[in-house]
Amino acid sequence: MSQRISEVINPIEDTYNLSNYEEIRHVYDWHQAGEDLRFRDTGKVNIAYETIDRHVEDGYGDKVALHYVDGETRTSMTFREVKEKTDHYSRILRSNGVKKGDRVFIFLPKTPECYISMLAAIKIGAIAGPLFEAFMEDAVRDRINDCRGTLLITNRDMVSRVPQNDIPSLETILYAEDIEAAPVEHGGEQVEWMDLEDGMLIHYTSGSTGKPKGVLHAHRVMTHQYESGKWVLDIRDDDVYWCTSHPGWVTGSVYGLFAPWLNRATIVIQGGRFKAENWYQLIADLKVTVWYSAPTAFRMLLSQGDVLKDYDLSSLRHILSVGEPLNPEVIYWAWERLGVRIHDTWWMTETGAHLIVNLPGEKIKPGSMGRPFPGIEVGILDEAGNELPRGSVGQLAVKTPWPGLMKEIWGNRDKFDSYFKYEGWYVSGDLAYQDDEDYVFFQSRDDDMINSAGERIGPFEVESKLIEHPAVQEAGVVGKPDPVRGELVKAFIVLREGYEQSDSLLEDIRIFVRNNLAAHSAPREIEVMEELPKTTISGKILRRELKRMEIEKQKEAELKKV
Ligand code: PRX
Repeated sequence: MSQRISEVINPIEDTYNLSNYEEIRHVYDWHQAGEDLRFRDTGKVNIAYETIDRHVEDGYGDKVALHYVDGETRTSMTFREVKEKTDHYSRILRSNGVKKGDRVFIFLPKTPECYISMLAAIKIGAIAGPLFEAFMEDAVRDRINDCRGTLLITNRDMVSRVPQNDIPSLETILYAEDIEAAPVEHGGEQVEWMDLEDGMLIHYTSGSTGKPKGVLHAHRVMTHQYESGKWVLDIRDDDVYWCTSHPGWVTGSVYGLFAPWLNRATIVIQGGRFKAENWYQLIADLKVTVWYSAPTAFRMLLSQGDVLKDYDLSSLRHILSVGEPLNPEVIYWAWERLGVRIHDTWWMTETGAHLIVNLPGEKIKPGSMGRPFPGIEVGILDEAGNELPRGSVGQLAVKTPWPGLMKEIWGNRDKFDSYFKYEGWYVSGDLAYQDDEDYVFFQSRDDDMINSAGERIGPFEVESKLIEHPAVQEAGVVGKPDPVRGELVKAFIVLREGYEQSDSLLEDIRIFVRNNLAAHSAPREIEVMEELPKTTISGKILRRELKRMEIEKQKEAELKKV
């Protein structure tokens, strides 16, 4: 495994040689993985140390660790500067009483301070809880309350969305501006040495029932993140690597921060909203070589047509995608217009790192998510937990264990156990099939979870918020298929007596969800019904029926167009 998996980019449909993949799968061994990580020699472990401090000790202190771009703002920091800043933040966290195992939440826009705050918390043994920057007050409160967070790092621009009460555990709110302005002390070892099984990161994620769950990862996840950064992101020493996701989502933390920095990459942190021109300009100016984004973003770029011809994007060597089905059209677009293939990857918040991937140089089958990462075994299971033959659609499952697998769901053993209902398997909740060459094809979710623009949205959280609005008696929320975003959040509601349907009322309801939960969770469409379909026995709202009706309606509308 010492040489690159392949230096050759094959055309998508060209003949290819499977031997690389099979050979690698054959020799790959998790026990030898992560050989460059220092804990292998010392037995002492802290992922923040491996991510930053190790590189300074190894003589790479002057290498650029990050470029930060937001509008006119452009700054860079070396690994030494990131280490020093992280130490500074760590000291301030310690002086505010943060101890090993405490939950420290980070609610910041995509800025260097956000990344540094996460590492600083982890460095002193705390568990970092990064929150998506667009969350509104209730979403922030629910998450901190769930795992009894004690400290929150934010900034004054976010103040109106920071809950000031109703979080009994929260002792301290720190503002990044104040930490930045505080006098810097020098010296003193900040790293708290941890056990591989100690927690370091908590990400809240949605399922189809209940409030978001806190997925806890332990320091051991680093081996998997390091290896996938090396082989799947294909990071090399002179790369400029850009992952477009915010660290509040797992892609933004694992592949925005940990995997690239464990591999000593120069990363790009970009602020501001999506705009095709700005994104292309950034790639051209910083000569981005490896780029990780999501199908919705690629589809938005594709729909902007010729904008791309005004930019020199020839620096791009490797592109990856994650989070939602990658349509073949997008792969062909990138191949034609950028001369680079898009490599799909599949994983989940719970899995800690990539599980199904397209390794660089291997044949891509458009429509498939790729093949199991070496060391990972995938199975397609029937309802009894038996493996189905190739080609049959069933539950996408993965043989346990592997290094990145979550440690627990915070305070919810039953939920955790529900992923392991078949002995020896982790069940993903996705439906898929696998072909004779090991490629896995995503079909759909096996539950009601909504995937809009790659963001995982739990219908329950949106429904709960909807019925807090005085006009809403009942609500059922589903994902409506959408050509750009994959799915849109669509709500079906029953109005309370005394309320009349009107455009302004529906807009008011939509804004209520947006202002209290998050913009991406707010229903793009709201439809008023006399009653909602329910199960006869338990009276539960039948989301599947709502979704079926919605898809039927879309089909009819399509037919009318013909
Ligand atoms: O349904 C699958 C979808 O996103 C889910 C995981 O969501 P989350 O934990 O937010 O993590 C997203 C990124 C790691 C999966 O159960 N998903 C993820 N990747 C793909 C995908 N669906 C289709 N193709 C993918 N490549």
